[in-house]
Amino acid sequence: MRHLMNPLDFTVEELDRLFDLADDIAADPAKYAHTCDGKKLATCFYEPSTRTRLSFEAAMLNLGGQVLGFSDAGSSSASKGESVSDTIRIISCYADICAMRHPKEGAPMVAAGRSGIPVINAGDGGHQHPTQTLTDLLTIRALKGRLGNFTIGLCGDLKFGRTVHSLINALIRYPDIRFLFISPPELRVPDYITDMLSERGIEYEEVIRLEDCMADLDLLYMTRVQRERFFNEEDYVRLKDFYILNKEKLTLAKEDMLILHPLPRVNEISVEVDDDPRAVYFKQAQYGVYVRMALILTLLEIVPV
Ligand code: NCD
Repeated sequence: MRHLMNPLDFTVEELDRLFDLADDIAADPAKYAHTCDGKKLATCFYEPSTRTRLSFEAAMLNLGGQVLGFSDAGSSSASKGESVSDTIRIISCYADICAMRHPKEGAPMVAAGRSGIPVINAGDGGHQHPTQTLTDLLTIRALKGRLGNFTIGLCGDLKFGRTVHSLINALIRYPDIRFLFISPPELRVPDYITDMLSERGIEYEEVIRLEDCMADLDLLYMTRVQRERFFNEEDYVRLKDFYILNKEKLTLAKEDMLILHPLPRVNEISVEVDDDPRAVYFKQAQYGVYVRMALILTLLEIVPV
């Protein structure tokens, strides 16, 4: 039985197969409409979510399966003190596969160790968010036509943003990628990431002003300042509007640069940017459903005929 905790749990070849399957699903959804008939997905969310939980649920419903679960820790037995290990053993009796989000790093991994069904990490604290990364990679592959050979700017909260940590982790396996980390000094990407890039000889640069590197970018990955992971509100208030991407700044960018964002957006992308053809963050959310459909089929080992 397989789980997904980290994007590196799949080899590059396995990811290619997953993305090919996601492309096929996007091209002919009707072919997959009954592939999960009789199967159930449990969504166990101990932290807020809109996209991730609902896209998992939409994915399972699109495959003909059913969904059950909870969307906040307060309405689950966690509020009575139940451990994730016990909860997953129970969920294993009720469902065929589980997507779990938890504020504690490593909690889905602990659950996977006790689970009788595949567990998908749907975000663990500031650590990893592999299904967002699969979404990001599929979006880049579909809209850029390649994974590799580009300069990507990651901008915003690079310290606490788990989507950023997961994406960097996944991208290092592709050729000729140059990273530009755009953040205020307080929200720098963690040292363990820059150390890992240096050890592997992967090119990166840390920049404070977005305007200083915009013209170099093939991809711009914007992120929200992660308020819930700050130790005090004052720091959050000081940093929350550090970056605001607007039309004026976009005049510096390449014509074919893509703007991605895992969403939710707060102020970091002005709504006037939404109509720019380079803004693909809403399309990205649609790719998230296709890739989660492909993931559910893969982990349940269902081969569509
Ligand atoms: C992200 C997350 O939960 O880490 N959201 C998502 O799943 N699309 C990004 C965020 O909350 O900023």
